[in-house]
Amino acid sequence: MGWYTIEAGFSLRLAAALTFRLSFFWRTHPLAIEECEYNSMEITAQELLAPHTTFGIGGNAAFFVSVHTVEGLQEAIRWAKGKSVNIKVLGGGSNVLVPDEGYDGLVIHNCIGGILYDGDGVHVGAGVMFDDLVADTVAKGLWGLENLSAIPGTVGAAPIQNIGAYGTEVSSYITEIHAYHIDTDTEKVFSNEACMFGYRDSFFKTEEGKEYVVVGATFKLRADGGPNITYKDLQHYFEGTVPTQREVRDGVIEIRSNKFPDWKEKGTAGSFFKNPVISKELFATLQETYSNMPGFDTEDGQVKIPLGWILDKVLHLKGVTNDTGTVGSYEKQALVLVNHGGATADDVNTFAKKIIQDVFGITGIRIEREVQNFL
Ligand code: EPU
Repeated sequence: MGWYTIEAGFSLRLAAALTFRLSFFWRTHPLAIEECEYNSMEITAQELLAPHTTFGIGGNAAFFVSVHTVEGLQEAIRWAKGKSVNIKVLGGGSNVLVPDEGYDGLVIHNCIGGILYDGDGVHVGAGVMFDDLVADTVAKGLWGLENLSAIPGTVGAAPIQNIGAYGTEVSSYITEIHAYHIDTDTEKVFSNEACMFGYRDSFFKTEEGKEYVVVGATFKLRADGGPNITYKDLQHYFEGTVPTQREVRDGVIEIRSNKFPDWKEKGTAGSFFKNPVISKELFATLQETYSNMPGFDTEDGQVKIPLGWILDKVLHLKGVTNDTGTVGSYEKQALVLVNHGGATADDVNTFAKKIIQDVFGITGIRIEREVQNFL
């Protein structure tokens, strides 16, 4: 065990006025995550990563540091380069499965804070908890993010997998992503188009995109917006009434609490797999056997299937665990895998692999994981 201290540098590069304003703002508003300290970086050795993830799984990082500013991030990266140590960035740890053997490099905990309003535009540091942003925008009457209430994780992670829930995707409200390029030590601003958003997908998941660290996001919300309650659960919940923004947020929180475990009590990373998109032909064939199988037409003429339905109604996995009882499909939502206590990453991977094989064997559908391996 050992630790190293670096004073955060303040060598701002004034590449553009906006960059300056945002960098300055993120530098002066550090309190994104309570546990983050400001302005001095302690690099700890052999830090256990499990408590830094919502799954509660994962071994040690050789080195670990929390950064609160872009300058702090730069310092950490330079430290790693100087020591020829690989780098991985962690946000809220809500969509990753960290291996049991941990990570033999520097894990940078991105705590860059700050929420800056500019009319109906909002500039937000990557380390702000996404739900804190939602709560704040709802309190200010700026519409857009309320359907995304109670999603764990940070603002910086949200665009990477384009988080979505209850008929809203975060990409609809993002105008710019500010990211830092590790190799060239430069900041870059990505337009919405440049982010190449898709269903739980973006440029930042590509090999090239992984060379960047998201340091902030700019959102455009609407002061004159209204509720989007077309999603079945919300329609049912509000039954023909027109809710206020606050009521939408409260409704989403209540619906979610009935489907997802509280990750502080039971480890989880939410939906473990993506909902598959299949051809109309395969859908028609499957409906001959499973006449109730739901499916939603996509814009490109295919059909998106709620995998939770297949895992529940076809594989009967709801509430089922592995032999040792450490990992299982959640009793109220089959698509959600949970750590019942003591699960290892190997347990989760083995359980998930069996599901992938069974879904393919029974339905011919190839499914993909949503939860990312932390490699
Ligand atoms: N269903 C079942 N049994 C189950 C689970 C689902 O029959 O055990 C069926 C029901 O017919 C239900 C349908 O599947 O109507 C869809 O279920 P749900 O509304 O819970 O949504 P989902 O497709 O399972 C997706 C997102 C969630 C998001 C919800 C709500 C993905 C991979 N998941 O889940 O996002 O919260 O919609 O919008 O797209 C996440 O990405 O981690 C996540 C939690």
